[in-house]
Formats: sequence, structure tokens, C-alpha cells
Amino acid sequence: MHDIFSEEQKYFQKIYEVCEDIANFYQFQKIETPILEETELFSRGIGISTDIVGKQMFSLRTKGGDYLTLRPEGTAPVVRAFIEQGMHNLPQPVKLWYFGPYFRYERPQAGRYRQFWQLGFEVFGEESPVVDAQIIQIFYNILREIRLKKLIIEINSIGDSQCRPYYKKLLVSYFRSREGALCADCRRRLRENPLRILDCKEEKCQRIISQAPQMIDHLCESCHSHFKEVLEFLDGLELPYHLNPYLVRGLDYYTKTVFEIYEESPEGRALGALAGGGRYDPLIKLLGGKDTPGCGCAAGVERIVAEMKREGIKFKKEKEPEIFLAQLGNLAKRRSLRLLEDFRAAKIQVAESFGRDSLKAQLAKADKLGVKYTLILGQQEALEGTIIVKDMALGRQETIKIEKTVREMEKRLKSR
Ligand code: HAM
Repeated sequence: MHDIFSEEQKYFQKIYEVCEDIANFYQFQKIETPILEETELFSRGIGISTDIVGKQMFSLRTKGGDYLTLRPEGTAPVVRAFIEQGMHNLPQPVKLWYFGPYFRYERPQAGRYRQFWQLGFEVFGEESPVVDAQIIQIFYNILREIRLKKLIIEINSIGDSQCRPYYKKLLVSYFRSREGALCADCRRRLRENPLRILDCKEEKCQRIISQAPQMIDHLCESCHSHFKEVLEFLDGLELPYHLNPYLVRGLDYYTKTVFEIYEESPEGRALGALAGGGRYDPLIKLLGGKDTPGCGCAAGVERIVAEMKREGIKFKKEKEPEIFLAQLGNLAKRRSLRLLEDFRAAKIQVAESFGRDSLKAQLAKADKLGVKYTLILGQQEALEGTIIVKDMALGRQETIKIEKTVREMEKRLKSR
């Protein structure tokens, strides 16, 4: 878990702004769900046999005896909200987006945190493959807008309840005959959910996986045509994708389309997927709602930041204050406090150091900030209702009436 401040905040802010702009364009509404949910939401939604549920959840029991979990992902909570808020009564599709912290008890390594931030987009109530393509386009746009350039989309279809059971049988018989060569986790996965083996990162399992039967060869008619259309839309949008027949994703709720987006470089690959998502048509019903299709994606903010830094992506410099307000004595300090508020109302940025009493220290700070003007309000000026304006470049100073300060400075800054 890590603190996010200083430079890091600027990256987070930039990513948030890009997301917000894109969400507004495609008409997604923002949603924030609680950080704690009932554990069962995730064990049912994500699936008991997944690593997330089996190994990575921060779970606790409350004094009242409830089993709660720090949310490890955003889709199940948003589905819970969709059901609880009766959003199936709204005009469909319902389009929601979110940006917040998530928690997974991972082995610490590059690109993996135990508290990390995700931005996610979800669409409910639309079965059409055009939605799958649009979600991919949205994430591609977000990453491009952030100026990541070498993006690649990996995509696959994992079928549905019609065609996947038969494929699972094929997988079981394929892996059973090679069971001795699989890692201990995969031997367990073979009994619980053979699809999960395809997600194993162990090298010895990878070798076996690379020869395994592929879902794509066993899709039913409707999954096949759905997937074909998704790919045709992606072609139409000229989005760069690779078919990855072994991509299954780490969560059980997917049907049909699954995809991940990477930055195409050895370092980018090592970091893991920047974004991942897919279609989850049965999830809403599984969690107690009306039968409603769904499709979405989420991206890891820390991973995007790491890529931005590696690519040397910089930001425009923030506007620095051009005026410093220095004061001396109690009366002057009181006047200065009020004057600062007048500047704020006029939307003029002013730096100050009211906590310091020494004029020398304040002027040194003004110098360091490189402001264009320093205003000096001393005891004498406060009594007379005046203020000194010092032009830092010319070293010239003059005295003006205090009530004219804001208007006068506005004029001077404009004329520069
Ligand atoms: P996910 O693939 O588990 O999918 O996570 C999405 C993204 O979150 C990953 O691609 C990665 O960038 C980031 N991420 C995941 N775990 C970590 C971690 N420990 N540290 C840093 N970043 C991490 C989901 O969570 C699905 N809910 C996505 C989705 C939305 N599917 C449909 N709608």
C-alpha cells in the first residue's frame, strides 16, 4: 500500500481528467460504491476458484458477525448497486464509470500493489457486440489521450453456457493426461475449474497450455457470430488487436468477449495489462437481479502512471503566482488577510507567508518564487490605508491606496 502525493498526484489528476472528459462524451454517469461489501458478493460474483477470491481478499468479521471484504474489483459492487437501486427501470443501456481504490493481497512486485486504483466503465442492458467494441475503443482512447502510443489489444471469446461446458470437458481430458507436469495450483484448478489453468503464469504450465484445445474452435453459433461482429467493429475502428486463444482473464463472470490492453514493449509486458475487461451477461441475474446483459473494463491507475513515467510524459507547468503579499505588524497582518480574500474573489493567484513576521524572510520567499510583484503592507501603510507595490524586475516601488490594490494589479498583470 502506498501514499500518493506530490508528483504522483499530478499523474493521478491528469488520468482522472482524461477519464472524466471521455465519460462525459460517451455519456457515462459517475458512481462511487462503498469500499466494504459483503464477502459473498465477491465469492459468488468473481468465483470461488479464482485467485482473487481464494488468495487475495482482505476480509474481516464485524462485531455484529457480518463477513465483509475490502473490494478487490469494481464490477460486482456496481452490479450490486444496479440491482439495489432498481436501475433496470431506467432507460437502457445504463452506463456507469468509477475511479477509486481497490484491495488485493498480492505478492508485492512491479505493477502490483495491495491497495491500487482502478478506473472502470460498465454498460448494462445491451447485448450487441457494438458495445464490446465501444468499451475497447473507450479504453484505447483513454490510454491514447494520456499519450501512451504502442498499445495492443489482446482479445478472445470464452463462449457461454451453451458451448463452454463441452470445451471444459475437452480441457479436462487434455490436462488430465498431463496432470503430473502441472503445478500444484493447476492440479487443484483441474478439479475446480479447468479454464483457470489457462490463466496460470508458471512456465512449466505455460508450455502445456500452448498446445491445449482452443475455445475459439468450439464456439456455438451465437457466440461465434457475436465475436465475429466484435472483430469487424474493431477492424472498422482500425484498432490494433491480436487474437489470444488462451486469454480467459482472472475472474469467473465473463462470457463471450474478453480482452486486455498492453503497452507493447518488454517493460510494458513485464508490468502486466494496463486494462482488462469483457462481457458478463449472466452476472446480474447471478447476483439476484433481472436477466440483464453487461459489458465493461477497468484499468490500473498505478500501471498507467508507471508507463507514463517510463515514456517520459510530462505535464504543462501549472500557473505560478505572480504576486507575493508581505506584511509587517499585527494591523497589517489583519488587513492582508482580508486583501488576500479580495484577490481570491478576483481569481488572481497570490502567494503569502503570513506565519512569518520578519520582512526579510518574506521578501526572500518572494524572490525564490520569482513573482513579478511584491506587495508590502507595513505598520505605517496599514495606518494610512496604503500599500507598496514593488516591481521585482525593475526594482522600482510605489505606494497606492489599499482599496485600489486588486484593480491596479489586475491592470498591471494584463498589460504585461
Ligand atoms: P482485472 O484484470 O482484475 O479486472 O483488473 C483490471 C486492471 O487493474 C488490471 O489490468 C491492472 O491494470 C489493474 N490491477 C489489478 N490488480 C492490480 C494490483 N494488485 N496492483 C495494481 N494494479 C492492478 C477487473 O478488476 C475487472 N473488474 C474489470 C472489468 C470491468 N471487467 C468488466 N468490467
